[in-house]
Amino acid sequence: MDRKEYEKRVDFKKLPEHIAIIMDGNGRWANRKFMPRTMGHKAGMEALHRTVETCAEIKIPVLSVYAFSTENWKRPAEEVNYLMQLLVEYIDKEIAELHRNNIKIMITGDYASLPVECIKSIEKALKRTKDNTGMIFNIALNYGSRREIVKAVNSIAEKISKGEIEPGNIDEDLISSLLYTHDIPDPDLLIRTAGEMRISNFMLWQIAYTELFITPLLWPDFDRDALMQAIWSFQQRERRFGGLK
Ligand code: IPE
Ligand code: IPE
Ligand code: MG
Repeated sequence: MDRKEYEKRVDFKKLPEHIAIIMDGNGRWANRKFMPRTMGHKAGMEALHRTVETCAEIKIPVLSVYAFSTENWKRPAEEVNYLMQLLVEYIDKEIAELHRNNIKIMITGDYASLPVECIKSIEKALKRTKDNTGMIFNIALNYGSRREIVKAVNSIAEKISKGEIEPGNIDEDLISSLLYTHDIPDPDLLIRTAGEMRISNFMLWQIAYTELFITPLLWPDFDRDALMQAIWSFQQRERRFGGLK
């Protein structure tokens, strides 16, 4: 099917409530163009701009994007610093438009340990958009799903030691309520760009029944048609949640 065809076939009355994206392939995109990796990240920011704009336009209730993982600290310091700087640049540049579009920014991950300029930008953006009622735009930053689960387990242990809960009463709802994502539904659709068939420590608990869509397109090349293809593909699936049709 021609790439342009997908949008015509999408049922806009049955959109996923929560789309999550592992934005991968910035480095490979730059490599292919004989450019430094940083240029790939810069181009990735433009793909992010387009994607947020389209998702808000078609009224996706929640969009989550994986921007920086707890494991990405293993990269060379220059690349990490560039990514942090780009984040501040992105938020400062986009905040007015995000706010105008009634988008509410949310951050999942341990952003308190990021450089102080990042924290400032993030907190300003959170404060400015906190009462917005449109799309929730969740940026996973210094996010690692295992770390998130460990945090939840520690907090359960603390509640038990204070006598607030009984050990036998731990259930799925309690665990979900202690994750960063407690206010948003689990993703319906998870998109990963750049072809890698792995999850890389992203929302392990939350994606138990999420539909996966992996595209070979590198993140900077991801566009409206690619998003429509992912949504169309999602709409062809039969979600059974372990039951029968
Ligand atoms: C994704 O692109 C961006 C981040 C992980 C921050 P990569 O930088 O991982 O790009 P590749 O995978 O090396 O191509
Ligand atoms: C996943 O991509 C993390 C983000 C997109 C932020 P990576 O490029 O870090 O994942 P691996 O290392 O290929 O698994
Ligand atoms: Mg990568």
